[in-house]
Formats: sequence, C-alpha cells, structure tokens
Amino acid sequence: MSDNTTVRSIAIIGGTGNLGAGLAMRWARAGYDITVGSRTSEKAESAAAELNARAGIDGIRGLENAAAAEAADLVVLTVPYAHQQDTLAVIKGGLDGKILIDVTVPLMPPKVRTAQVPPSGSAVKAAQEMLGDGVRVVSAFQNVAADHLEDLDHAIDCDVLVCGNDPDAREVVVGLAEAAGMRAWHAGRIENSIVAEALTSALIFMNARYKIAGAGIRITGEPQAGGD
Ligand SMILES: NC(=O)c1ccc[n+]([C@@H]2O[C@H](COP(=O)([O-])OP(=O)(O)OC[C@H]3O[C@@H](n4cnc5c(N)ncnc54)[C@H](OP(=O)(O)O)[C@@H]3O)[C@@H](O)[C@H]2O)c1
Repeated sequence: MSDNTTVRSIAIIGGTGNLGAGLAMRWARAGYDITVGSRTSEKAESAAAELNARAGIDGIRGLENAAAAEAADLVVLTVPYAHQQDTLAVIKGGLDGKILIDVTVPLMPPKVRTAQVPPSGSAVKAAQEMLGDGVRVVSAFQNVAADHLEDLDHAIDCDVLVCGNDPDAREVVVGLAEAAGMRAWHAGRIENSIVAEALTSALIFMNARYKIAGAGIRITGEPQAGGD
C-alpha cells in the first residue's frame, strides 16, 4: 500500500465514540467502505445503523474490534488514551502490513487543559513501538474537534498535522484527511506526534478561556514545489 488509490476499506476502532463517528460518516460519504469497530458486535451494529441514518447513506457496517481491523485495508484507532494499549493488543493480529492511524491524545482527566508527555515521549510513538515495524503507524487528527467532524455541513477550520516514519504512509493519510474535508501537512517522524498531542490541551484551555466552540490550528506560509 503506497498511495491513496489502494485504500478502499477503513476500520475505525472505537468508531462508536465521538471522534470516530465523524470520520466514519465523512469517509463513507467520500466513497470508502467503512467498518465501525466496538468491543461488542451489538454496539458496533447499532452505531453503524445510527451513523448511516445521520449521514443519509447505508454503507457503514459494524463489527467487533478485532474482526473490523482484520477486514480493512487501513485501520484507525479512536479510543481514550487510558485504553490505547489494551485495544492495540486486541487488534494487533489484524494490522500486519497495514497503516494504522492513531488519533490518541494523552489526556489524563481531570487535568485535560494541561499537556502530559507519556514516558515514551508521545502516545502515538508508544503505539509504533508496541506494534513494531510491520505496522506503519501515522499520527493525525489530534487537533480537530469531534463536534465539527460530526456536523457534516461544517467546513473544518483546522489543519491536520500528520506524523509518521514512512512518507508514503503519511501521504495516504494526508489524502484521507483531504477526503474528509481538511487540509493536512506532513509534519515529520513519529516523535513529532507529541507536538500535536500536547497542542490539544492548549486548545482545550483556549476553548474555555475564550468560549470558542472547538478551537483549531492553521499553518501559515505558501508551499513551493521541490520540498523534501
Ligand atoms: N473528542 C474529540 O474532540 C477528540 C479530538 C481529537 C482527538 N481525540 C482523541 O480521540 C480518541 C477518542 O476520543 P473520543 O472522544 O471519540 O472518545 P470516546 O467517545 O470517549 O470513546 C471512543 C470509544 O472508545 C471505546 N472505549 C471506551 N472505553 C473503553 C475501554 N475501557 N476499552 C476499550 N475501548 C473503550 C468505546 O467504544 P466501545 O464501547 O464501542 O468499545 C468508545 O465509543 C481519544 O484518544 C482522544 O484523545 C478526541
């Protein structure tokens, strides 16, 4: 898998929740085959039916997490930080050779307005270390508010920083972010994921300080041809 054209099916692990729901609906509308994963097949099927109804489509299906990961070309992890590693252990068998997009922000409630740096240096870097080189882990979407993603008529006013060790995998994710209505940027190796992860706590602080309904970020400057 080295470009966007080879990804047809996407599994969203924890897609029954806030962030996964918006991504599921937006990518399904863009023509991808979407499977919502859950710890139980009943909850997955019920969430898929609800998302199909909300998006006015019928292509989203639901499966238990391990089966969802196994069946898809590309897998997206959208569960709370406290359950990231446990959930990776459940789906690991279905990830070999695939791209895993990890949206995890290492929030440690109740101090969600204060950035936390995990012992590994980044939550998504820890995922890459746990899964090994056979899975290309890409970090993305940490700074996008779930409410905005779920509102399908909302033009997303937030850029996406895409970090990972494999440039081809990053390019796939840049394309998927664009397919879901966002501008996305290659932002370096997986170590750089901590920048996006930590920024989320600052955005949550600003939401409260300035009464913003989902603050986002924009990268300034005009890209020129010939970059590396
Ligand atoms: N919400 C946002 O605006 C936002 C923005 C950027 C990034 N993020 C990141 O995206 C991730 C998901 O956030 P969210 O707000 O979508 O989370 P969420 O709605 O609270 O949870 C997502 C899903 O995680 C699963 N889950 C809950 N407890 C679990 C457990 N004990 N073990 C395994 N799975 C469990 C649940 O799925 P089942 O019960 O169906 O298994 C749930 O529907 C987080 O890492 C968050 O930091 C969120």
